[in-house]
Amino acid sequence: MKNYEVKVLGTGMYAPKKIVTNVDLEQIVETNDQWIFERTGIRERRICSTEGGEFPTDMAYHATLDALKASGLNPNDIDLILFASVTPDVKLPNSATILQVKLGITNNCACLDIAAACSGFVYGFNMASAMIKTGMIKNALVIGSEMLSREVNWKDRNTCILFGDGCGVAIIGRAEEGSSSKVYSSVLSADGTGGEFFDQPVGGAVTPITATHLNEGTHYMQMKGKEMFKVATRTLAENAHKVISEAGLELKDVNWVVPHQANIRIIETTAKLIGMDMEKMIVNIDRYGNTSAATVPIAFHEAIADGRIKRGDIVLFDAFGAGLTAGATLIKY
Ligand code: UT7
Repeated sequence: MKNYEVKVLGTGMYAPKKIVTNVDLEQIVETNDQWIFERTGIRERRICSTEGGEFPTDMAYHATLDALKASGLNPNDIDLILFASVTPDVKLPNSATILQVKLGITNNCACLDIAAACSGFVYGFNMASAMIKTGMIKNALVIGSEMLSREVNWKDRNTCILFGDGCGVAIIGRAEEGSSSKVYSSVLSADGTGGEFFDQPVGGAVTPITATHLNEGTHYMQMKGKEMFKVATRTLAENAHKVISEAGLELKDVNWVVPHQANIRIIETTAKLIGMDMEKMIVNIDRYGNTSAATVPIAFHEAIADGRIKRGDIVLFDAFGAGLTAGATLIKY
């Protein structure tokens, strides 16, 4: 079977218009700007309008238009849509199919949602690149889009200060002859035994939401922050080392790390464990908070747009999230 190389053809993002600062949150829960910034690195986050126009597939639509422009493709050139989100527009149909219609794609391309929490985009990127490598598909649209503001308990200061809404996308496809772009190596993993560290047990088939849950606010996401922190740093560092050594490269060859943005202290600790300078870690948590599956593609897009990440650079995606899922990929952009 022929083996094709994979290239990131274009990226895009959408950040909701409404900015909510730490000072704004001081009016809602007992917290303060200093605590949030010192413990998390977050200054502000974006929150979607509930009036419409900024739901996860709307954000993905806008972000994809930019990615299509950057890649020089038409909507019907997309053979696969992978939509990573834990906050889909609706339960059925899946978000990828809703986006297919919004984009005017009429080629009946495959559409799949990925529920791998904060690792969802990296899961999608790896799955799509495997299909491109084998020649099964030519171009894939991979999305991380989240409206976490709907699922956090705005009365719980342990979680509501951490999350934000947003979307990032990448269109990846078969690299043309002579291109140096490639996916060197990747790892996808999960340790389901840590599922209870970050979960939302109410609202599924086992426990449908009742009036009592709504009154008590027990239907929202809940997290054991300290436990997550420890596993996150260890796993992010392990996976980074794995993909670099699997690629036969060394740390010094890596130009940029695009880590999941959950906490600046997680990013700093991971950088230390990997042995990477903080200057090489792409950080934007101060402006968006944790947007789950959207953090990696948003940070990736911003660093391309402002000229930090250039063609030929070696870039490491490194993500970790609820599940506990994790994924890392090493690419030449
Ligand atoms: O995307 C998935 C991956 N996400 C993660 O892995 C998140 C990982 N965890 C974290 O980022 C951190 O654990 C948090 C930011 C969630 C919490 O930071 P921490 O340093 O672990 O703080 P803590 O939970 O131990 O709380 C320290 C203190 C407590 O007070 P006492 O018990 O020491 O008196 C909390 O009640 O800070 C208090 N506190 C707050 N104070 C002001 C907790 N939340 C707040 C708040 N404002 N928002």
